[in-house]
Amino acid sequence: MKDEKFLINGGNKLFGEVVVDSSKNAYLPILAGCVLSEGKIVLHKCPNFSDINSMCDILRYLGAKVEKIDDILQINCDYFDNFCIPTNLASKVRSSIFMLGAILGRFKKAKVAYPGGCEIGIRPIDLHIKGLKKLGVKIVEKHGYIYCDGSNMTAGTIVLDFASVGATENIMMGAVLTKGTTKIYNPAKEPEIVDLQNFLNKLGAKITGAGGDVITIEGVEKLQGKEYTPISDRIIAGTYIIACAMCGGDITIKNVNPNHNIALITKIDKYACKIDCFDDKIRVIADGRPKSLGRIETQAYPGMPTDLQSQILALQTISKGSCLIVENLFETRFKHVPELIKMGADIHLRDRIAFVTGKEKLYGADVVGMDLRGTASLTLAGLVAEGYTTVYNVHHLDRGYDCFEKALQNLGADIKRIS
Ligand code: UD1
Repeated sequence: MKDEKFLINGGNKLFGEVVVDSSKNAYLPILAGCVLSEGKIVLHKCPNFSDINSMCDILRYLGAKVEKIDDILQINCDYFDNFCIPTNLASKVRSSIFMLGAILGRFKKAKVAYPGGCEIGIRPIDLHIKGLKKLGVKIVEKHGYIYCDGSNMTAGTIVLDFASVGATENIMMGAVLTKGTTKIYNPAKEPEIVDLQNFLNKLGAKITGAGGDVITIEGVEKLQGKEYTPISDRIIAGTYIIACAMCGGDITIKNVNPNHNIALITKIDKYACKIDCFDDKIRVIADGRPKSLGRIETQAYPGMPTDLQSQILALQTISKGSCLIVENLFETRFKHVPELIKMGADIHLRDRIAFVTGKEKLYGADVVGMDLRGTASLTLAGLVAEGYTTVYNVHHLDRGYDCFEKALQNLGADIKRIS
């Protein structure tokens, strides 16, 4: 892994326009969904995120033809000759677990290495397994692998104990080619679930209800390759909103659906910046020190996304007043806190709660990114800090941002990538 870092000279305001890439969390399950389809699938606006590249590597390993020309990705899974995802590939990108439902759905057998924990928490997959068992899949877990026999798969009714994004997506994909009507109660409602439904329906699936309380999947015989453009990334859009709120300035964020960021926008507007929403763009104007957002709790959609918690925490370190941030989704998502404290932030942690007292200034320091969004948070802190900040471990950020530093440079930030 390349040891790249960001060198940031903080203090510049941000001005101009930025175009948001396609959503990582929409693209990853859609890539798994390609396994279900015959023929060639063409996906547009494919960003250069390392997580997407790792998922493509897994598809290639399994025998799929995957070709990327500019930002167009062409995938054909008719050549699958392998139904096992080994540990070295499964551990590279957690979303490899989405392949389970898709491989089973199409080929009725799969062996996938357990993805294990990750930087932000333990992340069990019990809900995925329980759901697939309800579809008649025989599952044995041993020696770090999940062995699945789907030869007797049938439609089923699943009530998720928790509205897990990944479990909802995996079960949807398991059910698409399974005869009968499958219903998923208490599904996740994230926009990426709706996008997966739209993608699979375009290929010939019969799914309704995504985004609501029950998802219904009528099994069909086969899917056929088509073209599709996944939705834009609401977390990247949110990161830019917060960046402008912290640095000050006037930016327009393009290729976004403002409704997907409604939790952030309603919380931050008039406190940390002024926000104007249009059909597919958001204008953010910020002047002077932001006000504290009070209390923030991460929730499933449409609540405040856990994937924006780290960035919001960075904003709170320089806001007027104090703030309490509760992380309800993942156990270890405060790893960036000691690094922010190095920069002068006043943060106290107790279990999953961070108490933040805003300071007038942060100061440049050498800080180390530990996970994707935490590294984004440290980068935002560097943009506003006095003096130079070096952010180490930028490879975490590259999992879900494509040339983040270039987009920030275009907005006027003094940031560069160094090896
Ligand atoms: C997805 C997103 C991730 C986001 C998260 C929550 C992708 C690729 N990743 O992750 O960026 O932060 O949603 O919005 O889309 N859980 C269980 N058992 C399970 C599954 C989940 O206990 O079988 C728990 C998890 O530990 C966690 C919570 O449910 O506490 C939410 O997880 P989930 O919604 O499944 O997140 P992911 O799909 O892993």
